[in-house]
Amino acid sequence: MKKIVIAIDGFSSCGKSTMAKALARSINYLYFDSGAMYRAVAFYCMQNGIIANGEIDTEKLRTAMSDIKITFAADEETKNSVTYLNGVNVESEIRTLEVSQHVSRVAALDFVRAALIEQQREMGKAKGIVMDGRDIGTTVFPDAELKIFVTASAEVRARRRYDELVARGSNPDYQEILANVIERDHLDQTREVSPLRKADDALLLDNSNMTIEGQLQWLCEQYKKIAEQ
Ligand code: DC
Repeated sequence: MKKIVIAIDGFSSCGKSTMAKALARSINYLYFDSGAMYRAVAFYCMQNGIIANGEIDTEKLRTAMSDIKITFAADEETKNSVTYLNGVNVESEIRTLEVSQHVSRVAALDFVRAALIEQQREMGKAKGIVMDGRDIGTTVFPDAELKIFVTASAEVRARRRYDELVARGSNPDYQEILANVIERDHLDQTREVSPLRKADDALLLDNSNMTIEGQLQWLCEQYKKIAEQ
């Protein structure tokens, strides 16, 4: 089997990371969550007074970018990939609704994207990776051997995010989450730098009515077709 790069892009909360993680585990590839990197930058801004009253101090963030290093490591017990911001585990801090509310604006800044894309390309150098995000197949790895573009209805996605937050012990408001999903779709698709769009050579996967097992099976088939060539 040849080692390839697998790019999984799509709308927020459509289960990209669940399927990307499951695929990576079943074919023994490394998994990278590029959304977690943008979330970590947004969290850094919140912690360091770079975001205040919903406004981003872009000049302060531009200067800070060289001090922001994001890495991933497997949790010893669960083996799940965990996000580290400058060496500190921020995996649960970056999943809050507050971070979700700021992250699209942070991700729309060209200098933030340039810095993170550089780190992402480094992660894919040796191939054998699955990376999920919004621009992985279009910008980060335009030559990825397998590209998937995932979608599902906004309501299905809001319900999934709601269930995820409940499972983490919060008490979320479904309507607030749905509004956030719709707003982020709009921001992600209309931003000037690297907007969310399907690469011409990406396979489309609408998983509104698919089980996780069904998706994994479909993904493994696509992977084998290419890696066995
Ligand atoms: O997939 P997610 O919801 O964790 O992503 C968080 C945010 O980061 C989302 O608003 C889109 C943005 N993002 C991006 O612009 N480019 C990526 N490659 C990944 C995420």
